[in-house]
Amino acid sequence: MKHENRPDETAPEQQTSNANAMKALNVKTKPISGLGGLSGKLLLLTILFVMLSEVFIYVPSVANFRNTWLMDRLTTAGVAASVLTQTNTVAPRFQEELLEATGAVAISLDRQSQRSLVAMKAVPLNIEFEVDMGKVTPWNAIMESFRVLLYRGDGLMRVIGAGKMGDSERVDIVIPISLLQNDMLAFSGRILALSLFISILTASLVYISLRALFVRPLQLLTANMERFSEEPEDPERVLKASGRKDELGEAEMRLAAMQQVLSRSLAQKQRLADLGLAVSKINHDLRNLLASAQLFLERIENVPDPTVTRLAPKILATLDRAVGYTQAVMAYGKAQEGPPQRRLINLSKVVEDVADVLGLFEGSEIEFVNAVDPGLELNADPDQLFRVMMNLSRNAVQAMEADRSDLVVKRLVVSAEADKGTMLIRVSDTGPGIPANIKASLFKAFHSGSKKGGVGLGLAIAAELIKAHGGQIHLEDAKNGTCFCLQLPQT
Ligand SMILES: Nc1ncnc2c1ncn2[C@@H]1O[C@H](COP(=O)(O)OP(=O)(O)OP(=O)(O)O)[C@@H](O)[C@H]1O
Ligand SMILES: [Mg+2]
Repeated sequence: MKHENRPDETAPEQQTSNANAMKALNVKTKPISGLGGLSGKLLLLTILFVMLSEVFIYVPSVANFRNTWLMDRLTTAGVAASVLTQTNTVAPRFQEELLEATGAVAISLDRQSQRSLVAMKAVPLNIEFEVDMGKVTPWNAIMESFRVLLYRGDGLMRVIGAGKMGDSERVDIVIPISLLQNDMLAFSGRILALSLFISILTASLVYISLRALFVRPLQLLTANMERFSEEPEDPERVLKASGRKDELGEAEMRLAAMQQVLSRSLAQKQRLADLGLAVSKINHDLRNLLASAQLFLERIENVPDPTVTRLAPKILATLDRAVGYTQAVMAYGKAQEGPPQRRLINLSKVVEDVADVLGLFEGSEIEFVNAVDPGLELNADPDQLFRVMMNLSRNAVQAMEADRSDLVVKRLVVSAEADKGTMLIRVSDTGPGIPANIKASLFKAFHSGSKKGGVGLGLAIAAELIKAHGGQIHLEDAKNGTCFCLQLPQT
């Protein structure tokens, strides 16, 4: 008999894991500010989008500007030329004034197929573009505008259009491209400045309203989460919802409800952990006391007194059970099952091993049937599967052994079958069946039937191990006795 006097570690372990959970909750984040924040990002995006939409406005309007600009020159030149050509010759002084007013280097007028040069500067006429205002389409106005904007050089452009007399009169002017280009560039600059102004104004308004409507409440929410996670058991730190009626209000309400539940259950868990600590301390001392009692009893066991000889073994057995009980409780408190280390196992051999340990040999009181196909292999942790099979089989053996009658059949059968990627293992016996009063809480720890020495942990541990394998354990309906079925996924 071992008499250990180890300090109990159950409760401190539990406390450490609680403390770790709190730490995980309490994640410190850097405050988000500047353009990295939501409002900063939106500010930049709004500027970008407004500028983008301004481009769509700018393209047709620059083309329109070009058309109007050309038409203005053409009309001015046309009207002046038409007046000036009433007389047959145009005085050089008027010619110069006309050229200056329109910016043109040459102006001519076609009237009833009679062409007359109204004015011309003495410059070489290197004409780069020709525009017939009668044939301007929106698309070609846009293309031509960009050609003018991107033009490099000091070339000229010829513009032809109807005069003030309608189709019978055609005005033809030659103007430097740079004249139109400069005006168009100035126009583009004005549009750009206006666009920038509009985007910055819009973006600033969006930024301000977004901060007030969205970012600020979110920051408050985050601050509350931080405060709450520092001490989640404190009900004072639960969020007080602002009562707003939008999605953020809903989020606030849900967070507050969640924090309330968490705070309450953490407080409750803490109480349970404290209680667990107290119980395990008592349990530890109790075990030592019981062990000392066993020692004393072992010493008087051999006293030649008939009463002592009769009672001592019974008291020893009772003390043994009590020590076993305290040890099991402490082991459960400490138990931290590792994740299953899966291997390919021969199930039939596992079942044989279990039968050996339980002393189920041929000819023993209980008949043992290993109905597992000797070639059946499955994927599981060998040690954990052995413990599961051991717990189930031992329960069955204990239940059948409790039956003193020789007339009843006592048989334990283990069978297995593969079903669509799941291994089904059945452990059935012909015992008295599970007592009705513990059926509902069969797989919960410390729920034992009326049997002697049962701590009520075997099934709880088996269920935990099978769950870690991604499987399930359940009690099947059986006419006679009990049948437990394990489902172990194999994929
Ligand atoms: N095959 C069975 N036949 C009849 N009753 C069973 C059978 N298996 C389990 N039980 C009942 O279910 C109870 C719980 O079983 P469980 O293995 O969890 O605990 P235990 O056997 O009492 O204690 P432990 O296994 O921790 O020593 C048992 O006490 C017993 O009453
Ligand atoms: Mg058991």
